[in-house]
Amino acid sequence: MDWNSELSVEDKNCQIELIQSVELPVHLAIIMDGNGRWAVEKKLPRIAGHEEGIESVRDIVKASSQLGIKFLTLYAFSIENWKRPITEVTGLMKLLEHYLKAEINELHKNNVKINTIGKLNSLPKQIQKLLTDSMERTASNTGLTLTLALSYSGRWDIVRAVQMIGLDVRRGKISPEDINEELFSSYLQTNTMPNPDYLIRTSGEMRLSNFLLWEMAYGEIYISNKYWPQFRRNDLYEALYSYANRERRFGMTSSQINSSDITEKNSYFKRVVDVFKKL
Ligand code: FPP
Repeated sequence: MDWNSELSVEDKNCQIELIQSVELPVHLAIIMDGNGRWAVEKKLPRIAGHEEGIESVRDIVKASSQLGIKFLTLYAFSIENWKRPITEVTGLMKLLEHYLKAEINELHKNNVKINTIGKLNSLPKQIQKLLTDSMERTASNTGLTLTLALSYSGRWDIVRAVQMIGLDVRRGKISPEDINEELFSSYLQTNTMPNPDYLIRTSGEMRLSNFLLWEMAYGEIYISNKYWPQFRRNDLYEALYSYANRERRFGMTSSQINSSDITEKNSYFKRVVDVFKKL
């Protein structure tokens, strides 16, 4: 199904109004929190919260793609989540497998490029294969890049980058003096994307929970009080209107950011453009 053709008139108008009045984030990241609490409040098993959470994933992925957002990164499973009861972990893995199998054709048809970050070799073999196949199949798509953070944590990726930089120093490929923010970023798994401009976290919690720690240095944060299974496209639109009212200063003053020749602001946008050129 072509997602643009299935928009209702009302929704299409909402999206047109949003696109015309708001500068959308290039990279939107989401911490999908509150599945368990949503289920417990409904006296359902926790896994029912994750199942309903998948419906939110479907709706938000579609809406982001329809709006023309370039990068959407979803925190689907953290390294810390492995410590959850085995039944919940197994249930989540089954849901992920089911989602990938059921959605890959539609994602591909709608020009979505699948990407992943995280310690993928710790996932069950069949999920690793599904992810690799999905990434290969959608590699040349040019629409939304949907990154699933799976068995991911920000500190893990930072430590991994440090180890690889250490190895490259030892091999003589780089010298310690070459290490700067740009080089460091190029060793992170997020190196094919610009840093997130906007991070949404659901369920009212105000933490990063080890998500994109380095990359979120200047990203704006939005907290929704809804649980993830309740968070749907209208909530996304509300969050995007809120983003439009933010002034991103990157450590500078308001008047600097509003002047036309701001080196730091320009260099930030240049980096965004550079990332696009590399894609
Ligand atoms: C946090 O809610 C959510 C998760 C740990 C998993 C999120 C997974 C999904 C939405 C389904 C699979 C995802 C994809 C992309 C197919 P929680 O369980 O921590 O909620 P709680 O804080 O209320 O307990």
